[in-house]
Amino acid sequence: MKPIIVSIVGVRPHFIKAAVLSEVLRESFNELIIHTGQHYDFKMTQIFFQNLPLPEPDFFLNVGSMTHGAQTGLMLERIETILLQIKPSLVLVFGDANSTLAGCLASVKLGIPVGHVESGLRAYKSYLPEEINRVLTDHSSTFHFCPTRTAKQNLQREGINGAFFTGDVLYDAWGRFHEKAIQHQIPEIEPEFPFGLITLHRAHNTQPGRLKQITEALIQSRRRLIWPVHPRSRHALQMYQLWDKLCGYRNIRLIEPVGYFEMLVLEKRADIIITDSGGVQREAFFFRKPCLILRDNTEWPETLSLGGQVLVTPETLAHMLDTYCPVPDFYPFFGKGKAAGKIKGCLLERLV
Ligand code: UD1
Ligand code: UDP
Repeated sequence: MKPIIVSIVGVRPHFIKAAVLSEVLRESFNELIIHTGQHYDFKMTQIFFQNLPLPEPDFFLNVGSMTHGAQTGLMLERIETILLQIKPSLVLVFGDANSTLAGCLASVKLGIPVGHVESGLRAYKSYLPEEINRVLTDHSSTFHFCPTRTAKQNLQREGINGAFFTGDVLYDAWGRFHEKAIQHQIPEIEPEFPFGLITLHRAHNTQPGRLKQITEALIQSRRRLIWPVHPRSRHALQMYQLWDKLCGYRNIRLIEPVGYFEMLVLEKRADIIITDSGGVQREAFFFRKPCLILRDNTEWPETLSLGGQVLVTPETLAHMLDTYCPVPDFYPFFGKGKAAGKIKGCLLERLV
């Protein structure tokens, strides 16, 4: 009988990464999927299950949004109940969300080994909830699947040895889908109209003062921009009376979050990408697009090293938007697009 692996997903980027990994894992393992329900809007979750080769979840926990402690606690309790029934050989968690930490804690407390996909990333900013989740998950996991060599070194510095450099499953997904995605139509884009693409979702950037500065910088810039707005940012823009203000400027188009294929089309077509997302930052690098990262630091420093990407503040954003036009270079920091196969190979040696 094939060993049982439980994959725990809960937020948008998990679905994309799990889609490429799941397909490969199912060749050799009996994989079951738990969806915590941390993301729940149609365009933050179901759209990915419809478009990607990701099987429907076997368990849906319907947790939703609440304070971090309550959310993580509720997930932990519900995940534990399921793990007690299934008794898997391994639990896989992805990235740095509350769903990741809850999945990891529920498993290790039952003595079930945990594999952490995207292990070893560090922004060295303890105010980031994602940094807390990734450090705690790394220090409780059994198998560490590192997307970059830097990530593996970060773990070694913290005394975690035996981590695997696998490459980045998001690069696998990009390699597999970016050409096919081009067939997708996006009504918001007029033919040949040049634009910058923006995404924001970090708690830090949706604080009222900072969000107001960012929106003023976008208005001040002369660029046409398309912004698929994450629900957290939409709530904040509406709450601080910035939504209507932005809608009043013809150069800025606020749209709903889009599916993965549409997002790849927008990224490919954009002249420049402005983001605080780790995933979008890497995709800008894969597409060799200039990228302004609205953060103090990044857990993906490699993309800064070749000169096509730069950290910006709300104060420097408008100027950089109008003047930044490097010709980005490429280097295979994120592996060769075979991360899923490497993770499977590693688990086959250890679990079967
Ligand atoms: C979360 C993860 C982050 C990951 C990101 C991917 C944490 C702490 N952060 O950040 O690691 O990079 O997902 O996108 O887990 N909301 C909705 N509908 C939804 C989802 C969210 O309205 O379907 C709103 C709610 O008001 C919620 C807020 O967005 O409180 C933030 O959502 P949350 O999942 O807590 O954080 P993200 O910024 O999405
Ligand atoms: N993404 C998407 N639709 C959107 C915005 C992003 O499909 O409207 C994809 C994007 O292509 C990337 C991933 O979601 O693969 C990034 O997720 P997000 O920015 O939510 O989280 P992070 O990468 O910061 O964890």
